[in-house]
Amino acid sequence: MDEPDLLTRYEQFVNPGLGRTFRFMGLGAVEHHASGASVYDEDGVEYLDLSSGYGVITHGHLHPRIVARAQEQLTRMAMSTRLLLNRPLIELSELLARITPGDLHYSFLVNSGAEAMEAAIKFARAATGRQKLVSTIGAFHGKTLGALSVSGRELYQEPFQPLLPAVTRVPFGDLAAMEQVVDDTTAAVMVEPIQGEGGVIIPPDDYLPGLRKLCDRTGALLIADEVQTGIARTGRLFAVEHWGVAPDLMALAKALGGGIMPVGAVVGTPRAFSFFDSAPLIHTSTFGGNELAAAVAAEALSVAIDEDLAGQAASKGAYLLPRLQAIAAEYPSIIREVRGKGLLIGIEGVEAGYGGALMAELFDRHVLVIHTLNNERVIRLLPPAVIRQDQLERTVDEVGAAVRAVAAMGIDE
Ligand SMILES: Cc1ncc(COP(=O)(O)O)c(C=O)c1O
Repeated sequence: MDEPDLLTRYEQFVNPGLGRTFRFMGLGAVEHHASGASVYDEDGVEYLDLSSGYGVITHGHLHPRIVARAQEQLTRMAMSTRLLLNRPLIELSELLARITPGDLHYSFLVNSGAEAMEAAIKFARAATGRQKLVSTIGAFHGKTLGALSVSGRELYQEPFQPLLPAVTRVPFGDLAAMEQVVDDTTAAVMVEPIQGEGGVIIPPDDYLPGLRKLCDRTGALLIADEVQTGIARTGRLFAVEHWGVAPDLMALAKALGGGIMPVGAVVGTPRAFSFFDSAPLIHTSTFGGNELAAAVAAEALSVAIDEDLAGQAASKGAYLLPRLQAIAAEYPSIIREVRGKGLLIGIEGVEAGYGGALMAELFDRHVLVIHTLNNERVIRLLPPAVIRQDQLERTVDEVGAAVRAVAAMGIDE
């Protein structure tokens, strides 16, 4: 008997519900190799990757310098003894201290975004001796229990209640709402500088500076979740730089691994890390900061700086955004708004279903875009910062064709 196809085996052994969604969306091709902004399936068909694996591939798939650094490291040592000194970890932490804003100084290395936020929550509570956490509606901070507790969509929280106590959520971008709930019993205020999974929501310009002042006034720590926005995605190395704000703790992951390794980090001020002085093993991770991951992350940061990935994201975003907005203006019954900063771009449909229809149309054209976990109306384009001009032009053409196709389905009537 023939072996069932891979999608059927995915349904049998991985996740039946998600497998059904893949089938419904017409997904089922098997990825095989990748380079830059291109991914090829097992039949050699090329896809334009505007998903970047949910924002991981800012450097492009298999950036040669990062691959070379990983290969070199693999000829010597991958994991750390954690007893002898780990040079890549120290060099990475030193680099992070140098390039992150303000007084961000110490790094704790982990393996994912959720773990970085988990650590940030614990550090804030330990450093302040306070419990209260304030986050925002629509926020996404990860799906481990702590990170989930401060995320902003009840759908993902409901089955796991009770979650962390003393969490308050207020509307994102609303400084007055924050001022109502943050006081001198608050451990931390946490925000994504731009909400990603919430639907690419850019706050008013006074928001982050206002949060900084509020935290200074009350002694709460400001946690910036830069897991999605960090490492050049929005046109600055870190998105808080758009507003000249330095947080007390910054969570990083996704592109920190250069598209090669899962790496996360929480970078904090001496105050935020102060409790480590008396209890150095109070928070630990066996894999965190291993030689291979740390070497890759350090190289990924160096590449981001040397190749000005932030500048590339800014100028390529400035090319895409008005062109996509022009398409939206032609089809106001399909697209409500196109917005973004750098290469974090959201397309908001007039109805929730339009995003899925657009994604499917784009997939038929071998263009990969992603949905947003906390906002059903919005699909996202997160192209690699190394995307080429011809690929940017193709992006505009294909999005235009996909919107026209959705309009022709008559679902706008
Ligand atoms: C802002 C933000 N924080 C945290 C996370 C969680 O990261 P991970 O999936 O690596 O746990 C994500 C993932 O999308 C994110 O966008």
